Amino acid sequence: MAPGLVDPRPAAPASDFVRASVGPKEAFIGGPQVFNKVAEEQGTEKQPPATHPNYLPVWDDATKYAPLEPFTHYEHGKDADPKFPDLFRGATSVTELIPSTGSEVRGIQLSALTTEGKDQLALFTAQRKVLVFRDQDLADLPIQEALDFGSYFGRLHIHPTSGAPKGYPEVHLVHRGADDNKAMELLKTRTNSVTWHSDVTYENQPPGTSFLYVLDVPTAGGDTLFANQVEAYNRLSPEFQRRLHGLKALHSGHEQAQNSKSRGSIVRREPVTSIHPLIRTHPATGEKALYVNPQFTRHIIGYKQEESDFLLKFLYDHIALSQDLQVRVKWAPRTVVVWDNRVTAHSATLDWANGQRRHLARITPQAERPTETPFDADQEKGSESTENLANGKNGVATQGG
Ligand code: SIN
Repeated sequence: MAPGLVDPRPAAPASDFVRASVGPKEAFIGGPQVFNKVAEEQGTEKQPPATHPNYLPVWDDATKYAPLEPFTHYEHGKDADPKFPDLFRGATSVTELIPSTGSEVRGIQLSALTTEGKDQLALFTAQRKVLVFRDQDLADLPIQEALDFGSYFGRLHIHPTSGAPKGYPEVHLVHRGADDNKAMELLKTRTNSVTWHSDVTYENQPPGTSFLYVLDVPTAGGDTLFANQVEAYNRLSPEFQRRLHGLKALHSGHEQAQNSKSRGSIVRREPVTSIHPLIRTHPATGEKALYVNPQFTRHIIGYKQEESDFLLKFLYDHIALSQDLQVRVKWAPRTVVVWDNRVTAHSATLDWANGQRRHLARITPQAERPTETPFDADQEKGSESTENLANGKNGVATQGG
């Protein structure tokens, strides 16, 4: 605005403005109210029946689950041979998605991995953050066999609000039925459908090595985005990293439960909150990762509201804007994606409006309670970025137009 002119817009209170972009965004509009069993089982004029009817959701409100008890998680990635001889036996290609993050592996069958191969899968997932496996049989196995496979990696989480295949509450279903365009309603009030989160971080022991596999997906769209939270941490200046260490944040499942109730859906375990460090350390790699997400992190302990909003907004923007630490997974039939939920954030994209079904199953083994190791002063010493910053160079990019 030119000097001397008065801005006619009413001043928005700064903290409310910031909070609006910090609070949770509920993109998961599906649920029992919009589920059309006949259309799913028999198809519609425009859409074929679900290819995996055994995976269609039921919302069992009668069975309530007790609060989760603490358990000792065993991190199999620590036992793994870092050369991955068993994981890659028979692999025809292992391709990086981007240099820092994500690999696509072809030629191996996850369900046939030996114990050593599973240990190596846990470690390779932690290192690469997200792995894409094509031509897998996981969705075609009896559901119990898929769960047995997943349970090697940790105690299976039962999601408090999601639909599940009948008799298999440990399967978290992502389901948007044939001809259901309700997802697009989100875009009436929001400018995009992106909802960065790590799964259920409100739990005391949130998930680690996690699995999502395709049942039916649109011919285009419905991709899943992943962000590397270790890289997000590493990109921060040592001075800023140092300030984040020691901070803790509250993560809450209450809003998700409330949202589920307000849609006429279920809450099968009472919602909880947990306090976790802002920076957590991975037990197998020793890497430090940012551990906040706009879906479930509510505020930083000990900070005033505006201070907390301000810092969280910076961190969320940092993760969301850094496309150079993100990958975009395009689903195809028989794809399984494995990610380490401790060191990544992800988001579905709700961008297809042709009424095609999107149906995925998630197996979500829980891991250790997040822990922090102290800021590593050695990392700071001699670091180029520290020297540049000390010399007043702020690294403004000069290439590009
Ligand atoms: C999830 O949040 O675990 C599901 C992601 C997706 O639907 O792509």
